Amino acid sequence: MLPPSASDAEILAIGRELSDAIPSPARRPRAALDDKAMDLASQDAQLKAALFRFVDVVPACRSVDDLAAHLSGFLSEVDAKPVALEQALRLGGSRAGRAALGTAAAAGVKHMAHRFIVGESPQAAAGVLADLWKHGVTSSVDLLGEATVTSAEADAYARRCSEALTTLSRAAANWPAQPAIERDSAGELPRANLSVKVSALTPLLRADAPELGSRDAAPRLRALLRRAADAGAHLHVDMESYDSREATTDLVLGLLAEPEFADGPSAGVVLQAYLRDSPELADRLVRWVRDTPRSTPLTVRLVKGAYWDHEVVDARQHGWTPPVFEVKADSDANFEHLTRVLLGARTTGAGVRVAVASHNLRSVAHAVACNRASGHPDEDLELQVLRGLGDGLQTALASSGLRVRTYCPVGDLVAGMAYLVRRLLENTSNDSFLHEQGAGVPLERLLAAPGGAT
Ligand code: 2OP
Repeated sequence: MLPPSASDAEILAIGRELSDAIPSPARRPRAALDDKAMDLASQDAQLKAALFRFVDVVPACRSVDDLAAHLSGFLSEVDAKPVALEQALRLGGSRAGRAALGTAAAAGVKHMAHRFIVGESPQAAAGVLADLWKHGVTSSVDLLGEATVTSAEADAYARRCSEALTTLSRAAANWPAQPAIERDSAGELPRANLSVKVSALTPLLRADAPELGSRDAAPRLRALLRRAADAGAHLHVDMESYDSREATTDLVLGLLAEPEFADGPSAGVVLQAYLRDSPELADRLVRWVRDTPRSTPLTVRLVKGAYWDHEVVDARQHGWTPPVFEVKADSDANFEHLTRVLLGARTTGAGVRVAVASHNLRSVAHAVACNRASGHPDEDLELQVLRGLGDGLQTALASSGLRVRTYCPVGDLVAGMAYLVRRLLENTSNDSFLHEQGAGVPLERLLAAPGGAT
């Protein structure tokens, strides 16, 4: 059953309070993201398409030089090239030029990457994670690297994840007590939290044969669930592009239903509100929680979705209707609907833990208001932001006594390229919340119900 909805006046009041609590330089995140690439990409759809094709080959690149060679290859196919791009491409015409382009691209990307990536390894990131904790902020570490192409790479990723679970839980054991962020009404919340991607756990993910990828990834994910249970850590399985959704969902729900995982570890999945059929997946998750004898709640992270451009380009290439809403207000309205569905499912079976992941102040204020309207304390709602994009909101949420988790990518630049390009595309989208906020759209408009509906 859906919990009571909150009034627009309540949502507006919470949104205003949060907005006031955002430290001032962060109120204009777009200004801080003023890299040339952002501006160039927002102007040109072809340039964006070249970026996706680039992302597809990134996993196979072994060096920055290799990255630069592929990038210039794709960019050379953009018809109306901005001057800066023409200049860059001229460099790509010779071996020495490619090296220079590689170095320049690496420097630019490194600059951008430092905003988003917390360290090269979990060990190196431990200081940042401890500092976040000290400031009342929990984290989820994401080991960069996805879309593996060989079994050996998938094994290596699984090994790195296993080591990360050990490193993180050892580091977290030394953090001081923070009662406000360590518990909710369902019980204790693990301090160490790792997010993993199924495309990195198997090279065999195929839309037309989901069981193949699911079967191949299962032993690696099962071993990670065991490690997480031993380490007392939370394991979260990210959702990626639509063509891997079925395999990912079947894999996670199948494994978590195995008797050995009935009492843990704490684990979670992701629901992408930009997908038109996401309400059906929400229903499936709620039914699964009701029918599966587990004593640990299933955490569901509600996101808008990070592969929008990919889904639209991919569907158009095939002559399909995109699986995503093409009007942003529809996605936002669906996000609010799903927020209520998930909040309403907390009393089902072992329960659902709801994590609302958004930088959109309206979506966040709506979730906080609905959680309060349903009679739950604030700690029963987790809010999530991305490192480097949601830093101001993170501070505002923590200082307002709300429970916030920051998604913290860890790894090197080559492994992080696909992640960085997703952030680049999100921030160059003209109707993204952060873009509008940065462009100075008034708060009342930013906090209005999506599409003007209530
Ligand atoms: C991504 O990797 C944050 O999981 C999301 O883009």
